[in-house]
Amino acid sequence: MSATYDLSGRFAIVTGGAGGLGRGIARALLGAGAKVELWDANGTALLEAAADLGGEVAVRIVDITDALAVDRAAGAAFDGHGRVDILINNAGVLGEVKPIWETSPENFQRVLQVNLFGAYLVTRAVVGRMRQQSTRASLTPHPLRGHVVNIASIQGKEGMARAAAYSASKAGLLALTKSVAKETAQDGIVVTAITPSAAETAMAKEISEERRAEILGRIPMGRFVEVEEVARMVLWLSSDECSYATGGIFDLSGGRATY
Ligand SMILES: NC(=O)c1ccc[n+]([C@@H]2O[C@H](COP(=O)([O-])OP(=O)(O)OC[C@H]3O[C@@H](n4cnc5c(N)ncnc54)[C@H](O)[C@@H]3O)[C@@H](O)[C@H]2O)c1
Repeated sequence: MSATYDLSGRFAIVTGGAGGLGRGIARALLGAGAKVELWDANGTALLEAAADLGGEVAVRIVDITDALAVDRAAGAAFDGHGRVDILINNAGVLGEVKPIWETSPENFQRVLQVNLFGAYLVTRAVVGRMRQQSTRASLTPHPLRGHVVNIASIQGKEGMARAAAYSASKAGLLALTKSVAKETAQDGIVVTAITPSAAETAMAKEISEERRAEILGRIPMGRFVEVEEVARMVLWLSSDECSYATGGIFDLSGGRATY
């Protein structure tokens, strides 16, 4: 039996919420009773996700690399719901799978722009407002204001040949996680990140069979992570059960992580 969490009355934003992991995470948050708003640049995929998820789900077309659009979306979310309890920074792109000397500068910039700068913009806009909202009782004597979970990657810890931009962007996201956690440590905001290995989403379908085999060969468990396994860890990290782990980087790599 799965652990259950009561997130009723909580409001969550999931960026990249129309995609594979984002949708799975949103499903888990909705299942725990939270209201969820999906932010994604892909309007068609957002409508599909909303129809698929049902329940207390709202959608908003947001390109997370657009500072003005992100700030407007954050303002609207706080105005509409009064508060944001949970932020999942999940939107991301893979980019070119090539050795660095064959990649284009435009690709490097784009991958960092979405995976790191976009997460920065969303965190800046949402956490800046989250700090101002009232605290709520938690399971400990220490009240909480909210949780932020950043979806990084094992490649951000280990690096990966033919994925320098992606790996660098995710390493940057891990450093952003630790830094923001220190800045908000006394505000009752718990900031964490996860480092999954590969999952069967649209992103995994972008890679060749040879690349798949290369990635699989690096995972001691010999399989990809299930979307539900990611969602369950994110659920815990978004709940009051996770009250003291701020700045923590949580591994989800089937044994691939070496630290
Ligand atoms: N699938 C994997 O193997 C894997 C492994 C580790 C980490 N991750 C990370 O998980 C996250 C989700 O990936 P996924 O596997 O669900 O991929 P996905 O391609 O299914 O979903 C990514 C979503 O992000 C959205 N997006 C892209 N650029 C955006 C932008 N500028 N603004 C707003 N939305 C944007 C896309 O439209 C898409 O819906 C990513 O950050 C990815 O790096 C994925």
